[in-house]
Amino acid sequence: MVATFGEHFQVPLVHARREELFLSKLAGVTDPEQKRRIIGEQFIRVFEEIARTEGREARFLVQGTLYPDVIESGSRTAARIKSHHNVGGLPEDMEFELVEPLRDLFKDEVRKVGEELGLPEEIVRRQPFPGPGLAVRIVGEVTTERLDAVRTADRVVQEEVRRAGLVSDLWQAFAVLLGGVQSVGVMGDGRTYEHPVVVRAVTSEDAMTADWARLPYGVLERISSRIVAEVLGVNRVTYDITSKPPGTIEWE
Ligand code: XMP
Repeated sequence: MVATFGEHFQVPLVHARREELFLSKLAGVTDPEQKRRIIGEQFIRVFEEIARTEGREARFLVQGTLYPDVIESGSRTAARIKSHHNVGGLPEDMEFELVEPLRDLFKDEVRKVGEELGLPEEIVRRQPFPGPGLAVRIVGEVTTERLDAVRTADRVVQEEVRRAGLVSDLWQAFAVLLGGVQSVGVMGDGRTYEHPVVVRAVTSEDAMTADWARLPYGVLERISSRIVAEVLGVNRVTYDITSKPPGTIEWE
């Protein structure tokens, strides 16, 4: 994000790191909707704090909300699938006025707009990343160790997918840590009792529906053996072969 803004846009950027704050608010929380609400609220509180301390008068909050975020967050006539942090997760007493220029568009339409505007390929084609971040890629409580594990596992997935030249074929590919699950394994001549990582890779047009990607076995094999070797606290890797529906793309 910092690199993207720094390199491509001539705007003064203030970047705030608040990992500790988010982790303290998320301590002990396992319910996915509660996580989303906490993150949605803290996200706004941090914006408010920065807007004040920087001595600026920030009136607007510009968000890249898309139409599927609005649909999935629920309405009078549609069921709530999940509270997208930027829609159903926002606190009611928020001080900013919302500006959401992409709210009526699907991702593929946003990409066309980006191309028309001449934005660089790496921005237009970037994989979506969920607003609530890695907290929704850890099933169970979010802790520093688990964040480290899911980051390392995800780096392996990104590297192997890129090395295999598959990036442009996929909507998303990433790793999920099942924090609430442990299973027995064997390492050397010892017993292990650790967490599984789920690898998820999907193809899709607009994320409303998706199919699991038929990744070549060789790629899956490299991902699996590297994750078990490189990620502390993980002794098993599984590949998610569920389409959306009935699954969702993310796990939480
Ligand atoms: P699901 O898991 O609902 O994901 O099938 C559909 C697409 O949306 C992304 N996603 C989010 N994006 N805020 C966002 O900005 C969110 O709260 C959020 N939750 C999921 C997800 O990465 C996928 O591309």
